[in-house]
Amino acid sequence: MAQSDEAALTQPEPVIAELTLKRALGPTSLIMIGIGSIVGAGIFVYAGHAAAANAGPAVLISFTIAGFGCLFAGLCYAEFASMIPESGSSYTYAYATMGRFMAWFIGWNMVLEYGVSASGVAAGWSGYFLSFLQHMGIAFPAAFANAPLEGHGIGDLHLTGAIINLPAVVLIVALTALLVVGVRETARFNNAMVLLKVGIVLMLILFGLPYVTAAHFTPFIPPNTGQLGHFGISGIFAGAAIAFFAFIGFEAVSVSASECKNPQRDLPIGILGSLAACTVLYILIAVVLIGITDWRTLDVPDPMSFAVSKVAGLKWLVQYVNIAAMAGLGTVVFTSLYGQTRVFYSMARDGFLPPAFSAVHKTFHTPHRGTIIVGVVAALLAAIFPFDVLADLVSIGTLLAFIAVCTGIMILRITTPKAPRSFRTPFVWLVAPAGIGVCGVMMFFLSDGTKWRLAIWTAIGLVIYSVYGVWHAAPWKWKVSNGE
Ligand code: ALA
Repeated sequence: MAQSDEAALTQPEPVIAELTLKRALGPTSLIMIGIGSIVGAGIFVYAGHAAAANAGPAVLISFTIAGFGCLFAGLCYAEFASMIPESGSSYTYAYATMGRFMAWFIGWNMVLEYGVSASGVAAGWSGYFLSFLQHMGIAFPAAFANAPLEGHGIGDLHLTGAIINLPAVVLIVALTALLVVGVRETARFNNAMVLLKVGIVLMLILFGLPYVTAAHFTPFIPPNTGQLGHFGISGIFAGAAIAFFAFIGFEAVSVSASECKNPQRDLPIGILGSLAACTVLYILIAVVLIGITDWRTLDVPDPMSFAVSKVAGLKWLVQYVNIAAMAGLGTVVFTSLYGQTRVFYSMARDGFLPPAFSAVHKTFHTPHRGTIIVGVVAALLAAIFPFDVLADLVSIGTLLAFIAVCTGIMILRITTPKAPRSFRTPFVWLVAPAGIGVCGVMMFFLSDGTKWRLAIWTAIGLVIYSVYGVWHAAPWKWKVSNGE
């Protein structure tokens, strides 16, 4: 049974406090939360790599494929969220439907989705921070702003000569400190950040569109180089696997379940609404990025400001883009760290992890110990690993969790067909298998090194589960009633 640490019985205060106090999250706020946690390094950093190294202009198709994969999984998420409006997201859903082991398995993968994601996005944040300083005429030593390790294959991680990604570390440490003392991100602050990043991205689209030239889109699908995933059709799918990272975060909406006024109705709207808005935004950004510059040059840490800096009439936008990227990515890191501490909190409360993760500070009312542990590990990862290695690990873990959610929703339709659902995944027997298929294909196109890292991650998880979780975890406690 779960531990009985007295402090653990106190629920930590959610960070988006203004919303919580009123308990009045409506569909608009949910969509804002979704966009806040979706739009980040995926589009600001990784889209350039997907175009330059994998898909060329056909990265537009890659984004569409990734968007559909998320839409299918999102529809399954929405049904779960409308049945089990509890915080904890897919971890809680798995507990309710597939039992203890799957709950642990999904929760462990959510560490990739939130914790490692915070490290990856912070590593990506450095690129725009450097670009910002550079345009201010300040030179920051490259050896202290880059990862000392790089490499994608199974055994090809090697030293780069850099020492540490210091800006990423400082960002994570600062945000962790805010989370420990419980500095709250108010709804107003979250909305301001979302408006800033989306507003500047819209400016980029609006002012960039007149400079788009059709010649940049030919050939639309560059011929395959002979290597799987390097242009051609397989390159489109490899690009989709990369583009997928840009969509991660829409499930953050479901984590806010306990703060919603009407979760059954509004969670599906929040999840699907933010996903739809981001898909449209991403396609438009990709059109502008590819259309105003040569896609072969986009494999840089700051592709958006790089692209606008190459167009005489758009140069004035560079610092705005840098600021939007820093603010936008910073919010994603904050939300991811927050999400990670709360997932650990839920898992420790259920006995899967030691009580330290669910102990709540008497004055700050935050899970301070868990937050510090998460912050230290996330800062270490961001210090030594490059953005792409971390991002791919996040993607593969999240894809696996999505596949589990798509499977879970079908199980639930069979085991508890009559349980009340205010949202039913339409055409579930097509949508859920399609979600599994598209997510499975994207997983396949991630590098072998990434698959190995997932295997190692899973093995570590299994060891922790068998020496700790299985002995301490609560029994199947979230059972869904069949509505009878
Ligand atoms: N979707 C988030 C990002 O792009 C993880 O940064």
